[in-house]
Amino acid sequence: MSDITDRPRILVIHGPNLNFLGTREPETYGATTLADINETLQRTGDTWGVDIDTFQSNHEGMIVEAIQAIAASHQGLIINPAAYTHTSVAIRDALLLLKMPIVEVHLSNVHKREPFRHKSLISDVCTGQIVGLGSMGYLLALEFIVKTIRKQSESA
Ligand code: DQA
Repeated sequence: MSDITDRPRILVIHGPNLNFLGTREPETYGATTLADINETLQRTGDTWGVDIDTFQSNHEGMIVEAIQAIAASHQGLIINPAAYTHTSVAIRDALLLLKMPIVEVHLSNVHKREPFRHKSLISDVCTGQIVGLGSMGYLLALEFIVKTIRKQSESA
């Protein structure tokens, strides 16, 4: 059933250790906290007429369950699975359940870093990937998803 406000809903998932953004390796991940990122996304989403839900977990299974839960309730997903990007077949398989735009975001440019970070197990099941643009990557992902949802509803 559609939401009472009928506003599109977008989920933002943050993986392990991203709850320490701001203090965790700021030279790599920047000084912006997770709360700041979420607040900016929510404020921007509000201006653009979409509802933003955010979720952070350090547990792979919780992330899988968060993905499974949105198949019918949300219209887009932004996901930074953090270290699970490079290891999680379970998260990849869960993403395959969704029929909506999915943008993979990484704050750092993983391709400039250690070789084990060059491989993402989810890139080819996402609509696109944004890396290395810091917290701005989330906003760009949001803009893409909102425009895609609008285009879909115009042609429906
Ligand atoms: C990250 C990159 C991953 O390799 C790392 O494990 C993270 C954060 C990023 O946003 O740059 O925790 O996903």
